[in-house]
Amino acid sequence: MKAGVRGLSVQALAKRYGDASVFQNVSLDVAPGEFVAIVGESGVGKSTLLNCMAGLDHWDTGRIVQDGTDLGSLDAQQRALWRRRHVGFVFQAFHVLPHLDVAQNVALPLMLLGQRDDARVSGMLDAVGLAGTGTRLPQQLSGGQLQRVAIARALVHRPALLLADEPTGNLDPATAARVMELLASQTREHGASLVLVTHSEAAAARADRVLHLRAEGIEGA
Ligand SMILES: Nc1ncnc2c1ncn2[C@@H]1O[C@H](COP(=O)(O)OP(=O)(O)O)[C@@H](O)[C@H]1O
Ligand SMILES: [Mg+2]
Repeated sequence: MKAGVRGLSVQALAKRYGDASVFQNVSLDVAPGEFVAIVGESGVGKSTLLNCMAGLDHWDTGRIVQDGTDLGSLDAQQRALWRRRHVGFVFQAFHVLPHLDVAQNVALPLMLLGQRDDARVSGMLDAVGLAGTGTRLPQQLSGGQLQRVAIARALVHRPALLLADEPTGNLDPATAARVMELLASQTREHGASLVLVTHSEAAAARADRVLHLRAEGIEGA
């Protein structure tokens, strides 16, 4: 995928800590509306790679281009603004803010963009099966419901790039399957590029493509 083309393109990415290589030669393209899962053992660098894609971490060689924007060419402030507009992130530990109610949590990305839109927030809550829970506090929700709040929050500003780090790692298998279904269907509906990293082949089962991250590079790209 060349610069200017829509979607995410990671080109020959390598990351080291001193002399220790975390990963190298990682190349992959993700089209709009496509769901790619990256599977790898614990410690292989999945979270590090995802953080690079979000512009939250630095790499040593290679390029990351999203919808024609070369992340390496942005300074820290430009990167923060790019992330706010174009990225949604779903974490294993949900990271829902405990003192905000459900609707306020989901509205957060819109508030940061100065685009308050109550109708869109309640539409997102409907879409993730949480209609009517907007005024509840996170402590009144189950783990599966909290992860659905996190998915609604990651999608509410219609980001082009959705990144998920072990998003079902804290859920029981049945709830995990429902959350994965929702993540996949919402991504398609919004035309986002979804990259999910996980150690679990089961969690990757719904992806359009499954890649394997190893120290030598990524396979199946
Ligand atoms: N600040 C750091 N300094 C040195 N090594 C680090 C640092 N952060 C992470 N690592 C190493 O990078 C590797 C990849 O970590 P991580 O991306 O969290 O892996 P994964 O998400 O696949 O479990 C691990 O071996 C980890 O020990
Ligand atoms: Mg990790």
